[in-house]
Amino acid sequence: MVYLTRVEHFNAAHRLYNPEWSAAKNEEIFGKCANKNWHGHNYELFVTVKGNPDPETGFLIDAKILSRIINTHVLEEVDHLNLNEDVTFMKGKLCSTENLAIGIWNQLSGKLPPSVHLHCIKLYETPQIFVEYYGD
Ligand code: NI
Repeated sequence: MVYLTRVEHFNAAHRLYNPEWSAAKNEEIFGKCANKNWHGHNYELFVTVKGNPDPETGFLIDAKILSRIINTHVLEEVDHLNLNEDVTFMKGKLCSTENLAIGIWNQLSGKLPPSVHLHCIKLYETPQIFVEYYGD
């Protein structure tokens, strides 16, 4: 089994806000992230897949093909957009990095060639904070 990681980058705006709570409680829990006029992040996305190299190419997956799949199903859905307002797969969810990583996993799940398996979504919200999701 070999693991291959493709690194991608996107920018997006969001707001952390629970509509079930008062403004004061949102402010207390989410701080500046509850700012009603939104704020943005430069996200770094690490998509790791696993499987065995194809005997004819030596590749697990052609990295260009993996990049195209990530572009189509993730980057075109989120880049330069507002996660709360514009992104179909985040509708009705709190737009935390945790939920975004799970949403990205679900976007990619089932889109890879049959011999390639999704292993991990690692998503950096800032250089200091990242989330990993392994599908369970
Ligand atoms: Ni934020």
